[in-house]
Amino acid sequence: MTSARTGSQTAPKPNPYYPIGQLQCETDTGIETVPLREEVAFGSWQSAIPERYWDMDTGELSRRIRSARETLGEDVVILGHHYQREDIIQFADDRGDSFALAQFAAERPESKYIVFCGVHFMAEAADILSADHQAVILPNIEAGCSMADMAAAPDVYTAWRELEDLFGSTEDIIPVTYMNSAASLKAFCGEHGGVVCTSSNATKVLEWAFERGKRVFFFPDQHLGRNTGHKMDIPLDEMVLWDWRQPAGNLGGRTPEELERSRIILWQGHCSVHQRFSVTQIEAARERYPDVKVVVHPECRFDVVQAADANGSTSYIAKYVADAPAGAVIAVGTEINLVSRLAKEHPDKTIFGLDPVVCPCSTMYRVHPAYLAWVMESLLDGQVVNRIDVPAEQKVHAKVALERMLALR
Ligand code: 13P
Ligand code: SF4
Repeated sequence: MTSARTGSQTAPKPNPYYPIGQLQCETDTGIETVPLREEVAFGSWQSAIPERYWDMDTGELSRRIRSARETLGEDVVILGHHYQREDIIQFADDRGDSFALAQFAAERPESKYIVFCGVHFMAEAADILSADHQAVILPNIEAGCSMADMAAAPDVYTAWRELEDLFGSTEDIIPVTYMNSAASLKAFCGEHGGVVCTSSNATKVLEWAFERGKRVFFFPDQHLGRNTGHKMDIPLDEMVLWDWRQPAGNLGGRTPEELERSRIILWQGHCSVHQRFSVTQIEAARERYPDVKVVVHPECRFDVVQAADANGSTSYIAKYVADAPAGAVIAVGTEINLVSRLAKEHPDKTIFGLDPVVCPCSTMYRVHPAYLAWVMESLLDGQVVNRIDVPAEQKVHAKVALERMLALR
C-alpha cells in the first residue's frame, strides 16, 4: 500500500476500506505525483536528498531532468521498468520487463552511467552485467522489493545445508533464483551449478535445470515456481513448500518423505501486490463483461493463473493488450501503473485492473522524480550518488548465473 494520490480532476471518492483519500487508487485515472514533502510515505523513503528538491512540483522536476539529460547526452542511459510512474517512465531511453532491462544493461557499454528506474535487485543485476567503467545508479536507494526480502541469504544457506544432510549431497539439486532476489543469492546459484530466471523465461530455465538435476530448489517466489512447474506437467504434490520461518533443522516444515518425493522445493515467498488478485475478482469481471479476456502476471496465485486466459511477464502483458483487436475488453492482474498506462495507450480497448483498490508496488513507487532530478543534477556536478556496487566476489558468481540465463534465448 502506498500513499499515492489519484490523478482524477475531481476529489477522490471516499473509499470504505481506506478512509484516507490519499490512499485510494483508481486504475483508470493514473496517479498524480505530489512534491516529495507532501508525499506522506516520504518519511520512510531515502531522506538524504537535498532539501531544495522537497518542494519542487512535477513541472519543475521534469524540466530539470530533461535539461540534465540533454547536457549529459550519451554519457547517461535511463532504464525504466514497466511499473514506474508516468513522471518517470517518460524519461526512459529503454523500458521493459526485468529480463529486457538486464539485457539492455549488458548491451550499453557506451554510457558511463546507467540510471536504473526500478528496484534494487534490478539495479544490482545491471551492475553485475554492465562493464567495469559503468556506474549503475538507483535514484532512491530505499526502492527494494518485499518479495526479495523474504529470502535472506543466511536462511537460504541453512536450507541448503539441511537438504544436503537429508539427501547426503546436493549434487542432484539445482538452485534457481528468480531475478527478484539479492545479488548474494544469484552468486549462490552461480557457485552451485544454478541459474537465474525471470517471469519471461522461467519454463526455459527450469527445463535447463531438469537437464542437469533431479530436483530444483526455487526461490523466492513460490507462485512463479508452482505456475511454471504446472506448465511443465509436474504434479502439485511434487512441488513442496519450504517454510523459511520454521526453526533451523525443521526441514522447512516438510517431512523427509515429502522432500524425497519432490521435484521442486518452493521457497515460501510471494509478492504482496500480486498475491492480492483472486478468482472472485476474475468471476466478477466475467460476469460484468462476458467477452472479457483476463491476463495476469505469473506471480499471482495458482488458482488465479488457472482461471485467467493468459499469463506472462510485464512485457508479455503489454504485448497481449497491444495485439488484441479494437473493442477488446481486457482485465489485467498486475501492478497499477502498467495497467493505467495500457488503458491510456489503447483507448480503442477497454482495459482495467482486476482489483479495484490495488495500489502501486510501494517500492517501485519510491522512485519519485525528485530523486531522479537529484541523481541527474549530481552527475552534472561530477558526483555519482546512490551508486549500486555489488561486491566483486559476489559479482563473479552472480554473473555466471545471469549469463547462463541470458544464453537461453
Ligand atoms: P517482470 O520481470 O515481469 O517485469 O516482473 C518483475 C516484477 O517485479 C513483477 O512483480
Ligand atoms: Fe517486488 Fe512485487 Fe514490487 Fe515486483 S511488484 S518489485 S515482486 S514487491
